[in-house]
Amino acid sequence: PVTSRVFSGIQPTGVPHLGNYLGALENWVALQNQYPSVLYSIVDLHSITQPQDPKLLRTNILDMAATLLACGINPKKAVVFQQSQVSEHAELSWILGCLTSMPRLRHLPQWKMKSKQKSEGSVGLYTYPVLQAADILLYKSTHVPVGEDQVQHLELAQDLARIFNHRFGELFPEPRALLSSTRKVKSLRDPTAKMSKSDPQASATIFITDPPDAVALKIRRAVTDFTSEVTFDPEARPGVSNLVAIHAAVASISVEEAVSQATGLDTGAYKQLVTEAVVRRLAPIRQEVERLQADPAHLEEVLARGACRARELAAPVLREVRRRVGF
Ligand code: ADP
Ligand code: NA
Repeated sequence: PVTSRVFSGIQPTGVPHLGNYLGALENWVALQNQYPSVLYSIVDLHSITQPQDPKLLRTNILDMAATLLACGINPKKAVVFQQSQVSEHAELSWILGCLTSMPRLRHLPQWKMKSKQKSEGSVGLYTYPVLQAADILLYKSTHVPVGEDQVQHLELAQDLARIFNHRFGELFPEPRALLSSTRKVKSLRDPTAKMSKSDPQASATIFITDPPDAVALKIRRAVTDFTSEVTFDPEARPGVSNLVAIHAAVASISVEEAVSQATGLDTGAYKQLVTEAVVRRLAPIRQEVERLQADPAHLEEVLARGACRARELAAPVLREVRRRVGF
């Protein structure tokens, strides 16, 4: 029988925002209690597919480790590790790359989006999804929590599992997507777009370590409309509805309950209520991030232990891959 195993990765690109937390990380925390084997990787090999600053990368890796722990990922329940510390990822990626045709990669989202922004993309950026496939298959993972934006990349991992199995004999289970809630947090400045770390407008994005006054300011500046009553109607009233959705998500209540709490409040007063709910949810996370950041040696130790456990799982799989390939 195939053991259920969850794998997911997150790039160390600085502090996650509220969308990352509510759309992905919160789900990661839940999954560690639902599956017998769970791995979460800080995918630093993916972070060098675009020009980057080594000092910043090093800081970002530890910050991401602090963030994952502060959000509630428990290293006793999930293997938390840094991808580059487990060199098996790179080796399997090479082998899988040799099973991937060039045209198969051309239309995948990472390349299509990111190579347009630069005059030229690197080979690493082009084969980025192959490395993702290697991340997943290296542990014979069966379930992969992903956002909708990553579904096509997961399909490549599924294809590569099939291709490998067909060429070299059954080895990899076909990993299945665990679509994280379709809950999308929208930009506070343009509620028709998703909240994103790359939004140039500083007040559009709430980061999970934003102090209360920053949260208050951003929510105060959130785009709403000229109707003062609070209702939930994402089509007609995307701004107010985004605040309702955020309120419901951070307070773990339904949208209906959030709207009913807004009865009698105009949007200004409701923004204060939403601010309080967001601050209540984020304050303990921010304090824990700060506490953990003050002890980088501890974070490094957590990552080293995680890498050790990841390697124990990866080594026998890669050994078998090598044998099947003919090495
Ligand atoms: P960004 O768009 O800020 O660059 P990423 O692409 O790094 O974010 O997203 C990392 C994870 O967070 C993905 O699983 C993605 O689906 C989720 N995510 C990102 N932005 C949002 C959002 N605004 N609402 C919900 N989930 C989001
Ligand atoms: Na992105």
